[in-house]
Amino acid sequence: MKFFIDTANLNEIAEAQALGVLDGVTTNPSLMAKEGITGANNILKHYVEICNIVEGDVSAEVIATDYDGMIRQGEELADLHPQIVVKLPVTAEGIKACKYFSDKGIKTNVTLVFSAGQALLVAKAGATYVSPFLGRMDDISTDGLNLISEIRLIYDNYDFETQILAASIRHTMHVVNCAKLGSDVMTGPLSSITGLLNHPLTDSGLAKFLEDYKKGN
Ligand code: E4P
Repeated sequence: MKFFIDTANLNEIAEAQALGVLDGVTTNPSLMAKEGITGANNILKHYVEICNIVEGDVSAEVIATDYDGMIRQGEELADLHPQIVVKLPVTAEGIKACKYFSDKGIKTNVTLVFSAGQALLVAKAGATYVSPFLGRMDDISTDGLNLISEIRLIYDNYDFETQILAASIRHTMHVVNCAKLGSDVMTGPLSSITGLLNHPLTDSGLAKFLEDYKKGN
C-alpha cells in the first residue's frame, strides 16, 4: 500500500519523506488555507515546493466547478511539475474533465467520493485515483471501511486500473484496516503514519536490551 500524507505543511511533508516511507502528498483548498497559503500565485508556488520535497504524486485540486474552468485550471496545475496529479470533485463536470485528462495521459484524483456508485463512474472515466472519504463517513455514523471493500470488489470484478486512495484517514487503525481490505493507497496526517510505530512492548524491550548491554560493559 502506498502512503500519502494529507497536508500542505512543508515541515510535516519533509519529516514523512525523511522517514523513507512516503509515496506522495494530497492537498485540498482547506489544507492550503490552514497553512495560510492564499492567492493563486502563492498556491501554485507552494505546489512546486511540495513537489521538490517529496518523490511521488502530489494532488493539486481545481477550484472551478464548470468543465471549461476545470480544464483550464487542471492544465495549469499539470504544467507546474511532472509529479502533479489533477484533483477533481466527483460531479458531472468533474467526471467529464477526468475523462479529458485521462485521454491526455494526465494523472487525476477524483475526490469527495462517498458511494460505490460514484466510484464506479470515476473508474469508467479512467481516473488514476479515486478518493473515498473514510473518516468523514465514520463521523456521521456510516461505515467508511465498508465503502472501501465495496469499491475493491467492484474494481476487481472488472479489472479497473483506478487505484483506491483511502482518504480522510483519522488514525492508525484506519491505515491498518485499509491495508487489510486491499486499498492501494492511504492518505492521512503524519500522526497516522508515525503512530504505526507505537508499541509499549517495543519501548520496554528496547530499554531492557540497553540496560543489559550496559551491565555487560
Ligand atoms: C483527500 O484527499 C482529502 O484531502 C482529505 O483526506 C480530507 O480529509 P478530512 O476529512 O480529514 O478533511
